[in-house]
Amino acid sequence: VPTGQDFKVADLSLAAFGRKEITLAEHEMPGLMSIRKEYADAQPLAGARVTGSLHMTVQTAVLIETLVALGAEVRWASCNIFSTQDHAAAAIAVGPNGTPDNPQGVPVFAWKGESLEEYWWCTEQALTWPGSPTGGPNMILDDGGDATLLVHKGVEYEKAGKVPAIETAESDEHRAILELLHRTVDGTSQKWTRLASEIRGVTEETTTGVHRLYEMQRDGDLLFPAINVNDAVTKSKFDNKYGCRHSLIDGINRATDVLIGGKTAVVCGYGDVGKGCAESLRGQGARVIVTEVDPICALQAAMDGYQVTTLEDVVETADIFITTTGNKDIILASDMARMKHQAIVGNIGHFDNEIDMAGLAKLDGIVKDEVKPQVHTWTHPDGKVLIVLSEGRLLNLGNATGHPSFVMSNSFADQTLAQIELFTKPDEYPTDVYVLPKHLDEKVACLHLDALGVKLTELRPEQAAYIGVEVTGPYKPDHYRY
Ligand code: NAI
Repeated sequence: VPTGQDFKVADLSLAAFGRKEITLAEHEMPGLMSIRKEYADAQPLAGARVTGSLHMTVQTAVLIETLVALGAEVRWASCNIFSTQDHAAAAIAVGPNGTPDNPQGVPVFAWKGESLEEYWWCTEQALTWPGSPTGGPNMILDDGGDATLLVHKGVEYEKAGKVPAIETAESDEHRAILELLHRTVDGTSQKWTRLASEIRGVTEETTTGVHRLYEMQRDGDLLFPAINVNDAVTKSKFDNKYGCRHSLIDGINRATDVLIGGKTAVVCGYGDVGKGCAESLRGQGARVIVTEVDPICALQAAMDGYQVTTLEDVVETADIFITTTGNKDIILASDMARMKHQAIVGNIGHFDNEIDMAGLAKLDGIVKDEVKPQVHTWTHPDGKVLIVLSEGRLLNLGNATGHPSFVMSNSFADQTLAQIELFTKPDEYPTDVYVLPKHLDEKVACLHLDALGVKLTELRPEQAAYIGVEVTGPYKPDHYRY
């Protein structure tokens, strides 16, 4: 990358390939493309400076260019060190009208295989807006909450007048963010406080990020309003479920090419992601076993025909282990020590603490070897080998290319409408965490029906009156669970 340019990607020469895949993806993303058409004249995001922290994939490229088509300025980073598709990042940096020698695209800071230090540097670059009044964005589009966390931690430590000592870091990840904050928090500049002051809101993509937002709200720490995009029905009941149904086995296949049929696969967690994962493994002919803590989800798994038991019961006999919980310490190093030779271990939840990778590395005499990027064998002293995918980070984006375009069109249409809501109606959203209004959720579903040849039945007025809804919707009360 030539110096002085306001982006950092792996290889600009991949831009033409990226552009071809973006063009193919546009056809598969009818939600985003019809939003572009609908709002072309109104330009509802004119004046928005959107910082995005979300996997820099081909589908995300279509999202970014949709935000730009609606008038926004955008800066972007990936929200995972392994999830960037380098050709998509290059195409975004070059832009539809630029060339690798004359890039004219969006400032993007993302490449596959960042170190943790580089990861947080990229997030900081996406949040740094040269020439803006506060030096920062006025909107955040987040996935997992890292951009939001960085701003909140910066403000908290500026208020306290100091950043905790680096030695207090609880993990490598924590150390990397503390180092960044030590570099950027000082008594005089109040960089983060200034930056936060103009942020109108954040729209959050995933279960884990949403969890963080509700915690901040509960503790009175939330600095700006947030829309929980994850719990739009057209997001979590589609992306988390059908997206993972597609991309879980894609990741396992690309990483190992092991025949899944006939194997015993354990899916830890039977929420939206777990449901999609279990179905995808069963679709390949695996015998799927589910672990759950929630009796409702455990009962659902049983009714769907899966054996539900504890990890303890199957840890020595199963072939494939997938964590989907968004919780920590699901598979411990002591569990992995008991697994059978060439068991495959992977995580599809947002963060890498579902599998105790640090504990695995500390086991006596264990040897790690790279088969290829994001696929490692861990050999125990007795010769037993485990195959760990994406170093315990989300394997569908680390080992494959994440969810396909059509399902992401739903999620990203939700994201775009949520950005428009928060940016254009600040008075309607005082600081709190909101879900997308149901009429917008239904609108996003509508935008995807034609492409699949779906014909909707129209309610007759007397039928609408009988069930107490409008002919034009919303068709369900807010408490309906789908
Ligand atoms: P969810 O809350 O619907 O499901 C998680 C399930 O795990 C719950 O049913 C919970 O009871 C269960 N669980 C919690 N602790 C457990 C334990 N110790 N043992 C067994 N089960 C346990 O959440 P959702 O939407 O399924 O998301 C899960 C994770 O996946 C989150 O981190 C989310 O951010 C992430 N995600 C990843 C995607 C990807 O493409 N890789 C896509 C969407 C979400």
